[in-house]
Amino acid sequence: MIPDGYANLSTLLEHQLAVYPEHRRYLEKRFKDASPEHLRLTDELAGNVLRIAGDEVRTICADYKWMVNWTLNEELYFRRNGCYRLSKFADAYAEVYSNIPLMTQYVNGILASQIWWRNHTEVLGYFRDTFVAGNPKGFRHLEVGPGHGLFLQLASASPNCASAEGWDVSPASIAATREALTRMGNRHKIDLVEMDITKPPARQFDSITFSEVLEHLEEPLAALKSLHGLLAPGGRIFVNAPANSPMPDHLYLFRSPEEVVDMMKEAGFDIVDTLFAPPTGASLEQARKQLLSVSAVVIGTRP
Ligand SMILES: C[S@@+](CC[C@H](N)C(=O)[O-])C[C@H]1O[C@@H](n2cnc3c(N)ncnc32)[C@H](O)[C@@H]1O
Repeated sequence: MIPDGYANLSTLLEHQLAVYPEHRRYLEKRFKDASPEHLRLTDELAGNVLRIAGDEVRTICADYKWMVNWTLNEELYFRRNGCYRLSKFADAYAEVYSNIPLMTQYVNGILASQIWWRNHTEVLGYFRDTFVAGNPKGFRHLEVGPGHGLFLQLASASPNCASAEGWDVSPASIAATREALTRMGNRHKIDLVEMDITKPPARQFDSITFSEVLEHLEEPLAALKSLHGLLAPGGRIFVNAPANSPMPDHLYLFRSPEEVVDMMKEAGFDIVDTLFAPPTGASLEQARKQLLSVSAVVIGTRP
């Protein structure tokens, strides 16, 4: 399924298929038409995942399998009702964020999905090569909702990064991010703080990552306005939010990627660039028609 020369990807795939052999057909589709550039990117990112996983790589792969099965009900609910099952943050906190064992499995699953879901890989590559690479020397970085820690690791590894922090509402995400940064041997001392973005302190950063958090909020526009206040004038923010993406803790339904762009504008950001990434095996047009999950990435700036 993977040509020779992509050792990290082949190793991770071997572990994944060992615990989830039924996933072979999906993964064959995932890599069927992958270009050499995409395979190279996926292989490099698989190297990061392997280093973060350490000797727990089988657990990460098993948790990915668990996550795929855990979320099937949400897909059914979405197809039947045209909306997400939950709409209140308190319910998502009680069901998911406060449950440390479940949340640990969840962030492990999301970590593996960075490699197995084409849109996640594409977004992560764009984050590394366009957003982080475009940040100026000495940038002060914040990530809200780092989850598994891979985005925070990639940003803080930039030679231009002067300092980095991570804020997350879930203690399990904070622990996973701390472990990921330790295993990757980061050059900065990174503060990781348990924090709800709806109640932020008065601080300023030159660069902010807000990836797959917006759809977890009851009032996403209010959060974007808070982030606007946290961004120094001229700073850049990377927002990634999926449209039509039912998950057990997704509260706000974006019905198209354009709705994310419009909300960013309403919060006061100037739009620098966008990327709309459809899921494995679908074009953007097919994804729009069939209401499949599309990752909407927006790089914004505070004028
Ligand atoms: C789906 S994970 C995203 C992980 C990673 N950023 C990514 O894009 O793969 C969502 C993360 O956002 C955190 N989160 C959800 N609501 C939050 C809030 N109100 N304030 C801060 N973090 C929040 C969750 O605990 C979780 O770690």
